[in-house]
Amino acid sequence: MNTFLKYHLIALSFIALVTSAFGQEQKIIRPGEIWPDDQGKHVQAHGGGIILINKTYYWYGEERSKGLDTAYRYVSCYSSTDLVNWKFRGDVVKMSDPENLGSKWVLERPKVFHNKKTGKYVMYFHLDNKSYKVARVGIAVSDKPDGQFTYVKSFRPLGHESRDIGQFIDDDGTAYLVFEDRPFGFRIAKLSEDYMNVEKEMSLIKAHMEGGAIVHYNGLYYSIGSALTGWKANPNKYATAPSLEGPWTEFKDIAPPGTNTYGSQSTMLIKVAGTKSTTVIFMADIWKPSTQWDSRYIWMPLEIGEGKLWVPEPKPWSLNVETGEWKYVQGGNTINK
Ligand code: DGJ
Repeated sequence: MNTFLKYHLIALSFIALVTSAFGQEQKIIRPGEIWPDDQGKHVQAHGGGIILINKTYYWYGEERSKGLDTAYRYVSCYSSTDLVNWKFRGDVVKMSDPENLGSKWVLERPKVFHNKKTGKYVMYFHLDNKSYKVARVGIAVSDKPDGQFTYVKSFRPLGHESRDIGQFIDDDGTAYLVFEDRPFGFRIAKLSEDYMNVEKEMSLIKAHMEGGAIVHYNGLYYSIGSALTGWKANPNKYATAPSLEGPWTEFKDIAPPGTNTYGSQSTMLIKVAGTKSTTVIFMADIWKPSTQWDSRYIWMPLEIGEGKLWVPEPKPWSLNVETGEWKYVQGGNTINK
């Protein structure tokens, strides 16, 4: 290699190193690895949910950074226009025990819905005590996507127990909550017009599953979820139905069952409808219960269609949100390295 080329290559590697150190201009989604935000810190948005507002995606999730004040529960907010580079917008919730639930009270799986009529951002979350016996949803509201969110109330949706929750916004804009009602299965229910209540049950899927998520793809509804094994990964499964009211098929594996969904648990399905293609992303958490700040994410484009859904083996990939196209990227580390 001649000296001129060598210096150019060194200069280019240096630029790449500097930009990635500041968390800018990432092009690759690397499932299972540290995901640096714009400040170079690992994204803290576990059990999260994503909404799209005027071409900007907002990712909300459990903020579990090391050293947080244990009296509070925190929900973080990040924004992105490409689903790869995430700007930390702050902790939009810093809440002390809102219902006297005791020191180890639980706020998990926050999901934010934007109500176009009221203009409000309405956050739902799983609210519980340390033994997970309270089983309610909490609601907090903000005028802006990046908070602060103010606590409003908690309740059991339609009178049922509710632990893990998921959010689903259909193509016509209607908003639904998916919630795990342990004695019976998981329920899909429509929110009220102002989103401040859960109004109408669409389905009770009689399967004991959590981490519930739904996508509407090519005329069919696909629901996914995990088995009830705490923080431990298990083989997640899917079912389909022609309408949210069912009938739902039997549940089938979404990945080789021996991999326990590649060590992850479902949290959401994101549909990216571009000018050339529609990609559905499987968004999941790799939980690390004793070092939660280091819990990772698996995001992978699904093989989906005609009643089939499959999460391919996680590998680095890139996405074009404009066209909706994605491709594998050579050279990134794979999940187990
Ligand atoms: C599994 C749930 O999906 C998580 O959100 C969390 O509640 C853990 N169980 C707690 O064990």
